[in-house]
Amino acid sequence: MAEAEGGSKKVRERLLRFERESRYLRRDSDDRKVLEEVFDRSTMLAVEELIARKDLGELRGVVRAGKEARVYLGEDRAGGPVAVKIYLTSASDFRKRMGYIAGDRRFGRLPAGSRETVYLWTRKEFKNLQLARGAGIRVPAPLAFLKNILLMEYVGTPPDPAPTFSESEVGEEEYAWTFRTIEALWTRARLVHADFSEFNVFRTDEGPILFDMGSAVLSSHPQAQEFLRRDVSNMVRFFRKRGLGGKDADEWMKGILR
Ligand SMILES: Nc1ncnc2c1ncn2[C@@H]1O[C@H](COP(=O)(O)OP(=O)(O)OP(=O)(O)O)[C@@H](O)[C@H]1O
Ligand SMILES: [Mg+2]
Repeated sequence: MAEAEGGSKKVRERLLRFERESRYLRRDSDDRKVLEEVFDRSTMLAVEELIARKDLGELRGVVRAGKEARVYLGEDRAGGPVAVKIYLTSASDFRKRMGYIAGDRRFGRLPAGSRETVYLWTRKEFKNLQLARGAGIRVPAPLAFLKNILLMEYVGTPPDPAPTFSESEVGEEEYAWTFRTIEALWTRARLVHADFSEFNVFRTDEGPILFDMGSAVLSSHPQAQEFLRRDVSNMVRFFRKRGLGGKDADEWMKGILR
């Protein structure tokens, strides 16, 4: 027990330090209170449990902080890098997620509250990564999940994540890859990403890697085609801005749905 409490304190202190170093906490704020708002006690316990199970060896700092999740650099038991995505249980717009859970027949009973929704979302992202990977689509390899924490392959050179399409030069290759991947997701994985954008694709020397799969739904979801069209339109728009493209969204849709 004493050891567990010691572990808890260590994890808490680390997270607090990373948050301070990354200036995600305002200097004048009450650090402890803010940290507790971001990471509740059960999140801390979940981090410890992942460490106790040896799925996670160590936490090394914040990679990126968004509104809904923080991504940390962690180490696996062999000291290799892992990405630790922690969904915030305090995020207020969990209701928006409902539409991406209801209608997906993998998830029967709908969660009652925001915490359950976040846990389900985490599990959903893990399953989506598995499904995409099984269909041969390059995504970060899913390693483990617990409550609101997802462990996956780290993409990039620690402590930096790989650049996304939005942060890189893109050409014909990335253009072709994008629509090939949207189509492969639909036809082989039976998935729609539903948040496909230049911010959710890494550009690496080994080719692009799609990520941020929490919103993805099965193609049997009642709004699947609507989401598919939105993904296609987003990417047509992005590549046009970069001076690339031929087909418009309608033409791509016809090809994918044929
Ligand atoms: N597997 C990974 N390896 C390395 N870095 C990662 C990984 N996954 C996510 N990141 C980093 O964290 C950022 C946010 O990740 P992600 O898009 O999955 O979360 P998000 O909640 O959608 O955040 P945002 O609202 O900023 O899109 C990414 O842009 C990337 O910099
Ligand atoms: Mg994202």
